[in-house]
Amino acid sequence: MLNVKKLKRTFNQDTAGFQDVNLSVKEGEIIGILGTSGCGKSTLLRVLSGLDQHYEGTISIENSNNQIGMMFQEPRLLPWLSVKKNISFGLEKEERNTDKYKTYLDLVGLADFENHYPKDLSGGMAQRTAIARALITEPEILLLDEPFSALDAFTKMQLQDLLISIWQKKKTTMILVTHDIDEALYLCDRIFILKGQPGEVYSEVSVEKPKPRTRGDTYLSKQKAHILNLLNVEKKAAGEQK
Ligand SMILES: Nc1ncnc2c1ncn2[C@@H]1O[C@H](COP(=O)(O)OP(=O)(O)OP(=O)(O)O)[C@@H](O)[C@H]1O
Ligand SMILES: [Mg+2]
Repeated sequence: MLNVKKLKRTFNQDTAGFQDVNLSVKEGEIIGILGTSGCGKSTLLRVLSGLDQHYEGTISIENSNNQIGMMFQEPRLLPWLSVKKNISFGLEKEERNTDKYKTYLDLVGLADFENHYPKDLSGGMAQRTAIARALITEPEILLLDEPFSALDAFTKMQLQDLLISIWQKKKTTMILVTHDIDEALYLCDRIFILKGQPGEVYSEVSVEKPKPRTRGDTYLSKQKAHILNLLNVEKKAAGEQK
C-alpha cells in the first residue's frame, strides 16, 4: 500500500538526513525502522508524513485519501484542553463536538479520565491520549517516532501491548521508529536497519512469528542476536574491552 523509491532527504551540502531508501509496505503490516541516533529516522518519518516536502525520489500510497497519522516521542498535548478535547482535536471542526472520541478513549483505556487536563496525567496516560488522538482520524498508515522511549520499562510494555491490541482490532498499517531491538522484535513484521550519515537501509530482517508474541521467546532471542551482529554491537563492545 506504500511504495517508496530512491527516497532521499539531505540538508545543506548533502549532510546527514537519509538517502537511497526503498521500501514497500503491505496493508496491515507493522514495519520497524531501527537505527542509531542521527541516521535519519525522524527525517524519514517527517517526509513520509508529508510534513517535509523537500525530498527526492517517489512516495506512492495506494487506494488512499492519504490519511496518515503521526505520533511523536513526547505526547504534544495542548495543556489548555481536557483529555477528551485533545483526542477530538485530531478531527475536522464539524466533528470535534461529537462523541466520536468515546470509542478511542475506551480503546486506550482512559474512560475515567476524559475531563482531566494534561498536567494531571502520568507519562503513560499522556501517551495513551496521543495514541487516541492519532487514531481518531482513522489513518490508513500510522507513523510512530519512538513513541514509548520516554516511558519506564513497565509502562512501555503495557503500551506495546496496547498497540498490538489496537492492531488486532483495526489492522492499521504502522511504521515504527525505535532504538529498542526488543520492541521492534515484539511488534514488527519486518525491520529495516538504517546505518550511516546520511542513513541508508543496511539490512532487512523478517520476524516470522504471528502477533501477539511472547516476550523472550527463543526465536525472538535468536533474531536479536542476529540484529546485534548486523549492527556490529557485540564485536565493538568486545573490542573495547581489550
Ligand atoms: N532541519 C535540519 N537541518 C539540518 N540538519 C538536519 C535537520 N534535521 C535533521 N538534520 C540532521 O540529519 C541527521 C538525522 O537527523 P534525525 O533527527 O532524522 O535522526 P534520528 O535518526 O531520528 O536520530 P535520533 O535517534 O537521535 O532521534 C542529523 O545529523 C541531523 O543533524
Ligand atoms: Mg529521531
